[in-house]
This record gives sequence, structure tokens and C-alpha cells, in this order.
Amino acid sequence: MKVGRTLVSAEEIDTALARIGAQIDVEYEGKDLLMIGVLKGAFIVMADLARHVTVPVEFDFMAVSSYGAATQTSGVVRILKDLDQEIAGRDVLIVEDIIDSGLTLSYLLKSLRVRYPASLEVAALLVKEGIQRAQLDVKYTGFTIGPEFVVGYGLDYVGKLRNLPYIAVMEEDD
Ligand code: IMP
Ligand code: MG
Repeated sequence: MKVGRTLVSAEEIDTALARIGAQIDVEYEGKDLLMIGVLKGAFIVMADLARHVTVPVEFDFMAVSSYGAATQTSGVVRILKDLDQEIAGRDVLIVEDIIDSGLTLSYLLKSLRVRYPASLEVAALLVKEGIQRAQLDVKYTGFTIGPEFVVGYGLDYVGKLRNLPYIAVMEEDD
């Protein structure tokens, strides 16, 4: 596999994050915003989106992994790193790199909802179209893409390429 054509340029990403940041500024004015990044993929989008937000905000991170291949379809994920703080009564915004089947996020939402946040919303840089198996309400979306495998800007191919400053499609070698 090799890095193929650019799907979303660095400039397009920045424009989308500026738009989402401006929406967050309006909608979280006077609230108690806590942005939660889902590691590892969301570390870059979290850092860049954060710099487009001007309302008071705190940050936390979670790391999750799917239970082995056999149970992956059930969407049961293991929490590898939980939040450092309580979220009861807080306005929580989950920040994701990409939503594919939506099963990971749907499990995450379920496990956070029982901690009684005042509100719980999702911001995702990318949403793959037409293959969501879980009913998800994503409040802030950067780009809707096709069912291609993409890398860069936090997204990896076997652990690598997260540092690519734009989003590219993986292609077969010639
Ligand atoms: P799902 O929404 O539960 O299917 O899983 C989403 C996770 O799968 C993301 O957080 C990524 O870690 C990974 N993923 C899904 N699609 C891609 C892709 O195109 N490139 C890189 N990672 C992906
Ligand atoms: Mg991820």
C-alpha cells in the first residue's frame, strides 16, 4: 500500500476547523465546556480545533481499543485510558478523527451518558458516508467522505502516517 491522492488539503482542514470553532464559540458561550479527544487518532484535530475556540474550555483524553476481531462488530470497546476528571454536570464535546461504522463512538457515548454530563455532543473531522451501523448524531462534521481508507492528520496505516499534514487516500502499489 502507498499514499495516494490528497483527499483534503491542510488548508481545507484549517478552514473547516475554523468554521467548527466559530460554531462552538456561539453554542458554548456561558457553558462549562470540556473537550474530550479520543486517542490516538484525535490528537492532531484536537490541538488544531482547540486553537479556533475562544470560549473557556478544558481538555481531557480517552484511549479505547476494540476487543479482538471476533467481537468487533458488537462495538464493544475496552477503555485503555479513562478520563482524569468527573463529567457530571459538564458540557462534554467528544472530538474524533473519523467515524467509520460508528460502533466505537456509540459505545463511548453510552459509557459517558451514564456519568450524567449536562450535555454530550460529537465533533468529527471526517464521517464516512453510508456505512454507519450505529445511529449517531454528530453535531459538528468537517467532511463527509466515501468508503475509502484514508491516512494523515492523525489517521494511521498500521501505526504510521499520522503526522502527514493533510488527508490522503491509501492506494495499492503498482
Ligand atoms: P468505527 O467508527 O467504530 O468503525 O471505528 C472508527 C475508528 O477506526 C477510527 O477512530 C479510526 O481509528 C479507525 N478508522 C476507520 N476508518 C479509517 C481510515 O480510513 N483510516 C484510518 N483509520 C480509520
Ligand atoms: Mg480513532
